[in-house]
Amino acid sequence: MRKKIVAGNWKMNRTLQEGHSLVAGILAGLPALSSHKQVVIAPTYVHLTQTAAQLAGHAHIHTAAQNCSNQESGAFTGEVSAGILKSAGIGYVIIGHSERREYFGETNALLAQKTDRVLAHGMEVIFCCGEPLAVRDADTQNANVETQIREGLFHLAAEAWSHIVLAYEPIWAIGTGRTASSQQAQDMHHHIRAVVRAQYGATVADNLTILYGGSCKPSNAAELFACPDVDGGLIGGASLKADEFLGIVAAM
Ligand code: PGA
Repeated sequence: MRKKIVAGNWKMNRTLQEGHSLVAGILAGLPALSSHKQVVIAPTYVHLTQTAAQLAGHAHIHTAAQNCSNQESGAFTGEVSAGILKSAGIGYVIIGHSERREYFGETNALLAQKTDRVLAHGMEVIFCCGEPLAVRDADTQNANVETQIREGLFHLAAEAWSHIVLAYEPIWAIGTGRTASSQQAQDMHHHIRAVVRAQYGATVADNLTILYGGSCKPSNAAELFACPDVDGGLIGGASLKADEFLGIVAAM
């Protein structure tokens, strides 16, 4: 059975104190989880040790970083390595969010290197993909997303895929209030699973968790998560309030 995950990506929001309260609020309302139903919280780098300490002892809820360096260590001012994240108790790292791709020029080749660093340190990767509006309007989104996955992840051995979670986030739905319809989400998730199946076979594809992201909220989460190939969500704006985030966790 493949894992279901609801992951909150705080982006560049919340002070340290606000983050502490938010995590406390989430823990206070969290239902029992299992190894097949997990929650992930991705605050800023500054919050990470605090969040990891708050979550310690709570089963199946993990701390994630939003990014990491493609370098192992050394003179890279401002960067944080996968090894440092691991030492802070981090379980997951988000790689290739569209904001990293768009505002920080991150290419598929760079994201492949970052993925390797995270896996080498025994953490899980949440690898993001998704097309901009122009690509959706031209109806070429399947090829666009396939290229991101192929160039970012197809250098991996089949065994590594048990540590990969994919997140499909159509850029036109991120932070816009415009959600992909459940049919659009299902169609793309089905396509992604087919692309992975063609390369790695049915076992890898069937066990792959594929999250939807882009204006997911309590009011639409249940419908999105009911799609057979949608295995949870990567949540931005709605992860910043405990009650909204918990509403989405409940839909899982
Ligand atoms: P959103 O962001 O939920 O605010 O649309 C999703 C994401 O970027 O992960």
